[in-house]
Amino acid sequence: MTDTVLTENRDGVLLVTLNRPEKKNAINNAMWGQIRDTFRAAAADDTVGCVLLTGAGEHFSSGVDLSSFGEADVDPQALFNAAAMAVAEFDKPLVAAATGASVGGGATVLFHADVVYAGESLRMRLPFASLGLAPEWGSSYMLQANIGAQRAAELFYTAQWIDADKALQAGIVAAVLPDDQLLEHALATAAEIAQWPVNSLREIKRSLRLHHLPAIKTAMQAEQEAMARQAGSPENIEAITAFMEKRKPNFRKS
Ligand code: COA
Repeated sequence: MTDTVLTENRDGVLLVTLNRPEKKNAINNAMWGQIRDTFRAAAADDTVGCVLLTGAGEHFSSGVDLSSFGEADVDPQALFNAAAMAVAEFDKPLVAAATGASVGGGATVLFHADVVYAGESLRMRLPFASLGLAPEWGSSYMLQANIGAQRAAELFYTAQWIDADKALQAGIVAAVLPDDQLLEHALATAAEIAQWPVNSLREIKRSLRLHHLPAIKTAMQAEQEAMARQAGSPENIEAITAFMEKRKPNFRKS
């Protein structure tokens, strides 16, 4: 692994840290490959009982790296799909600890975590409407499954910011902690989980996800088709250009 996704096995807890803090842990194409490989390896490794996913620095993740779409010689959608599926199909407990920005893929990945702990600074956003895009990572199903259709629709359509209290109230996170206590708390829970037999943890996870997986796969397929229609559309280009130029997008002109 290169240093943009760090892994450390702490007595059965695999600590996975997104490590690109200067870009708020925006996930570029190389990182998608590392996320895919990390989760596949963790699933196959019987010394891993539980994964704890977090981000280096003050921000969990600002999601897809908006500057990486034009990279040559790679198929970003294929890389993203493989990573997304590796996380969705991960067959052991997944705990997450998130502070600061948690946007796009940096939010939707959390919907696949079994237990999410938020720091008080958490600011989550599903920015797809504001980017002229469609949902991803099976979030169009997972968020409804986790918090209900009404609350999910409000968050998708408005693309509003969700603070830690609202995330807790909605059921997106299990608990909110002061930022400086968050990792310690999440590590303690992950260690409490990882003490148990790995085969039992696998069977519990499979039981919990059994009914969700077909729906997740259906959602991901529909999302990919929607994303293919929207990526590169005039409204999407305007949104990304506006982000790069640090200005508000003007969708009325497109
Ligand atoms: N892709 C690429 N670069 C990103 C990024 C992303 N998703 N998110 C942040 N960055 C970069 C910024 O361009 C900036 O780079 P620079 O220092 O070279 O100018 C740096 O990370 C710091 O981000 P900045 O926007 O200055 O920080 P902020 O605290 O003002 O805002 C966010 C943080 C996360 C709210 C803001 O960066 C943001 O909205 N990012 C885009 C999130 C998004 O839409 N993701 C797409 C998901 S599909």
